Order: sequence, then structure tokens, then C-alpha cells
Amino acid sequence: MPMNTTRTIQFTLNGEPITAQIGTHQHLIEVLQDRGLTGARESCAQGLCGCCTVLVNDTAVSGCLYLAAFADGAAVRTIEHLPQGKLDAVQEAFIECGAFQCGYCTPGFILMTRQLLDEHADPSEDDIRHYLSGNLCRCAAYPEIIRAVKLAAMKRKGER
Ligand code: FES
Ligand code: FES
Repeated sequence: MPMNTTRTIQFTLNGEPITAQIGTHQHLIEVLQDRGLTGARESCAQGLCGCCTVLVNDTAVSGCLYLAAFADGAAVRTIEHLPQGKLDAVQEAFIECGAFQCGYCTPGFILMTRQLLDEHADPSEDDIRHYLSGNLCRCAAYPEIIRAVKLAAMKRKGER
């Protein structure tokens, strides 16, 4: 009997209900990119760099490793869920601190920083390094990134 290699899944994508026909081998990043969402980027394809970070039920996952089939019934959010035309505190802080150069890794850093600040409003430098340890920036903008996270925390608390 031939093996069924496709299936239909339903999930919400940035708040919109989606029905998708997927290959059972497909990773979530491919499904997102097929839908024109290019904020999460495939770089290492090995779960090492964080460029493909997306949120599944509010938990950050590597879209390059996460099987799309596991997203069935889930709430998936990408960087594109952030309002267009209005920057949040984290985005503002990254710009003000010059916390990126090429920007390839930046969507992943923004999503992880938001998750960090949702869970720790006043993170220590160890917290920051821990949360961002799965995100690599090949331009080595790390000092600026850490400054940006601290600034974003202050902005969220209304201190800047
Ligand atoms: S592309 Fe997924 S972790 Fe690097
Ligand atoms: S800004 Fe260039 S890889 Fe991060």
C-alpha cells in the first residue's frame, strides 16, 4: 500500500485561520515561505542560528527543524504579526542601538527579545545571553544587541 506523504493541516497564522496541504516531511519554514512570509529565514537549516525563529503557541521554535505537521491546530506567529507602520519598544531599541548590520538574523532576535521581556521585565545580562544564545549574528553585533535589549526593557517600563 503506498504511503500517504501529504496531509491537510489547519492552524492560525498571525491570527488568520489557514488550511494547508503539506508534505509530511515539510518543515514549517517552507510552508511559511510558500505563503510569502519571508521574515523568518532559513540559514543554517540545522537549528543552530535562530534566523528561522517563529512562535508556535507562544513558544519560539526553529522553523527549519519544526515539522509543519506539528503545527496542526496551533497558533503560529511570525515577525509579520507585528503591526505594520508602528514600531514596538524592541524594534525601536534595535534601531536606536544599531543592533544589526545586514538584518538577516534580526527577526529572530526581535522575537526572542520580546519573549524574554514578556517573561522577565527586568532581565539581567545573564538572562539576555541565555535567551539569545540560540540566535547567531554573523555580523557580530552582539554588544549593540545586548544594549538594545536593555533599552527595550527600559522602554517597556516607560523609563525611556
Ligand atoms: S535556519 Fe533554522 S536555526 Fe538556522
Ligand atoms: S545583522 Fe547580520 S547576521 Fe545579524
